[in-house]
Amino acid sequence: MPRMTVNERPVEFEMDPETPLLWALRDAANLTGTKYGCGNGDCGACMVIVDGEALRSCLITIAEAEGRFVTTIEGLSRDRSHPVQQALVAEGAIQCGFCTPGIAMAAAALLRKTASPTERDIEAAIPNLCRCGVYPRLVRAIERAARVAARRETISAAPAPGIDPEDAAREVPAMAVPEDEE
Ligand code: FES
Ligand code: FES
Repeated sequence: MPRMTVNERPVEFEMDPETPLLWALRDAANLTGTKYGCGNGDCGACMVIVDGEALRSCLITIAEAEGRFVTTIEGLSRDRSHPVQQALVAEGAIQCGFCTPGIAMAAAALLRKTASPTERDIEAAIPNLCRCGVYPRLVRAIERAARVAARRETISAAPAPGIDPEDAAREVPAMAVPEDEE
């Protein structure tokens, strides 16, 4: 059964090795911050970081993720204190928020490689679709996150505390079977 490290914890998925990583994360690990949008690699809602690269988790199987280091939005920071998370909130670059975890992961991967990304760098690194159209604010937020990460700016309004990854990764309870189906 495929083993990997998810949010710094060793995980073994007792599932068909051809299961998309997205479903293993959401259904087995209960890490539902990673969203299912299209399932086809088009929207980026399912983006996670695998060995430092932003990847669409609907497009890789758990067999392909074997032995790799996976970070989901729950593992990006324990308290929403990552510069990208702070800047997305501060710039109001979130409306419904469905696309936001995937965008945050793509942006975090970008900033690991490019400390001061240009607008063109950001557009190239963030292919994610946002039905609410937050794109202009998104560019501003990622530029601001780069300044925060480089300690050239601080954001004073701390975002609300996040969900503890320990809680987010709790075991999925067994499904109850209705009596008339027994
Ligand atoms: S759900 Fe993976 S790219 Fe849309
Ligand atoms: S904020 Fe709604 S889809 Fe992007």
